[in-house]
Amino acid sequence: MSKTATTARHPIEEIPRDRFPKHIAVIMDGNGRWAQRQGLPRIEGHRRGVHSVRATVEECARLKIDQLTLYCLSSENWKRPQHELDFLMHLLEQYMIEERATIMKQNVRVKIIGRRDGIPDQVQREMDKTIELSTANTGTTLCLAINYGGRAEMVDAVQCIAEGVQQGRLKAEDITEATIAEHLYTRGMPDPDLMIRTAGEMRISNFLLWQVSYSELWVTDLCWPEFREETLRDAIENFASRDRRFGGLTKPGSSGVDACSSGD
Ligand code: IPE
Ligand code: IPE
Ligand code: MG
Repeated sequence: MSKTATTARHPIEEIPRDRFPKHIAVIMDGNGRWAQRQGLPRIEGHRRGVHSVRATVEECARLKIDQLTLYCLSSENWKRPQHELDFLMHLLEQYMIEERATIMKQNVRVKIIGRRDGIPDQVQREMDKTIELSTANTGTTLCLAINYGGRAEMVDAVQCIAEGVQQGRLKAEDITEATIAEHLYTRGMPDPDLMIRTAGEMRISNFLLWQVSYSELWVTDLCWPEFREETLRDAIENFASRDRRFGGLTKPGSSGVDACSSGD
């Protein structure tokens, strides 16, 4: 997990297409800390965070990134004070309404992962409207993780698989990694190539636990409200320099510029 961009960097225009991440996932952290540093209530950090969401979605659409997954609310975030949760729900509803036209203009397709319980009905209605309206869009997929927990996702998948076995649709010995992947909320989606976390913490916080197994991690000390398109480009430029081995060895002639040069 690299926290600093110490690698030989190439400006984004020079990066060959095959070294771009196809799927970027972001743990948008540090809204509260950003606000508190400005002497503002925590919720102001969430409000400002929406500007960063806009800038990031716009840049991903411009760069033709296949998928952007944003961690908006974890299954553990319900421990927060009710007024903060109410404000987050309000922001979510507002985002769904106010961004709809832009999302359509950007050809972005919206998807949601996570459990629906706890999300107020009117927020769900606005989410569904945006999902439905954007379903035929062919550009970047914007996947919003709302009331999402990686462990909860696995529990739901295991229950579904166990039911299949119980009903005779599935044999236990036929369960493979693909079976599990097909029963996760992210079925049909590629695994993230690049996972970004803002606000400096070096942890995953229950995000995409199955899917992140070979993601490249990139952590910045910037808080989410400070994240802009140039931060995203920094992360992509750093990603392009990584040597992804997936347990194997560096391919001869690989253009990764950050590979360890210890010869044999
Ligand atoms: C991330 O910012 C947003 C959510 C988790 C909803 P935080 O609210 O966690 O901000 P910090 O980490 O407390 O600064
Ligand atoms: C992770 O941030 C969840 C989201 C960004 C939605 P948290 O602030 O909840 O993570 P922890 O508690 O610091 O691990
Ligand atoms: Mg946090």
